[in-house]
Amino acid sequence: MAFDRFGRNIHYLRISLTDHCNLRCVYCMPEEMTFRPNAELMQDDEIVTLTRLFASLGFDKIRLTGGEPTVRANVVDLVRRIARTPGVRSVSMTTNGILLSRLAEPLARAGLQRVNISIDTLDPKKFHRLTRWGNVDDVWEGIHAAEEAGLTPIKLNAVVVRGYNEEDVVALARLTQDHPWQVRFIEMMPFAGATDIQVSQMVTAEEIKQRIEAALGPLEIANGGRLDGEARLFRLPGAKGDLGFIASVTHPFCASCTRARLTADGVLRMCLLREKEVDLLTPLRAGATLEDLRRLILDAVWNKPWGHGLEEGVIPLNRTMSEIGG
Ligand code: 5AD
Ligand code: SF4
Repeated sequence: MAFDRFGRNIHYLRISLTDHCNLRCVYCMPEEMTFRPNAELMQDDEIVTLTRLFASLGFDKIRLTGGEPTVRANVVDLVRRIARTPGVRSVSMTTNGILLSRLAEPLARAGLQRVNISIDTLDPKKFHRLTRWGNVDDVWEGIHAAEEAGLTPIKLNAVVVRGYNEEDVVALARLTQDHPWQVRFIEMMPFAGATDIQVSQMVTAEEIKQRIEAALGPLEIANGGRLDGEARLFRLPGAKGDLGFIASVTHPFCASCTRARLTADGVLRMCLLREKEVDLLTPLRAGATLEDLRRLILDAVWNKPWGHGLEEGVIPLNRTMSEIGG
């Protein structure tokens, strides 16, 4: 098992399968985004090798992210290989859902257990504006395909941006009345690429909750008031699903963080919001032994930063969100 110097057991690995994406959300990347050439990204065998290594160190929970993980070639085979890795107990994915209507079923058969799907508004025009070219119907079909394929419980993620979708949180919250989904509202975090909007148009979890309560009445506490991952859970009275609030900026959950991130170019990042990184792919390609790599990983885990420095105005600027993996 891997522990950091604060005693946190780090066993949850988020692997970014690609920095590429079929959308251009305003809070995530600039419209004219340039992506890395494929040769710089981890190849399938390299991902499998590193996954085996992490699993042997006690990483039992894997989430595949991006960019958009489903745009990676051969994603279904890769998921199958990751899911079969000894020691890996759960494999889930964070996706924008655009390609799920065709991929949910094969991914589920390959061993994917759950998906978190991003949908920031149900309004087609606003969705198009926020994602710069997305069609919300594609996501909607993707959500249903995921449900039919058994990729449950379905979690929907909405990043809230002032001037874009802060009024749409009510309609999103209403979805839980009829569907057993967890709809999660995420405070926008600042990164390179879209920093102006991320800082000036952030909406707090508290404000989002108030907007929902003003329209739909008081929320009940769910999950005994405990965090579910990074989300604080509530429920509309009588609803089938839950509402989650992820206050990464105003109430960071660093004390209970169990995560590490592997970027699409094979760099280990121990905190989403700290620039510090440890390159694993370059040594792997240069012929490092598994023992060398194991030491690099354990050192990086040990030195995992305590938490982010947003309150002191420290914003990570070396990579966009899509390069790190959300
Ligand atoms: N702040 C918070 N979440 C973000 N995501 C992308 N950019 C940001 C940001 N600036 C989220 C997406 C998706 C996941 C990949 O990361 O909405 O749910
Ligand atoms: Fe793509 Fe997700 Fe970034 Fe939107 S938030 S541009 S869907 S990676």
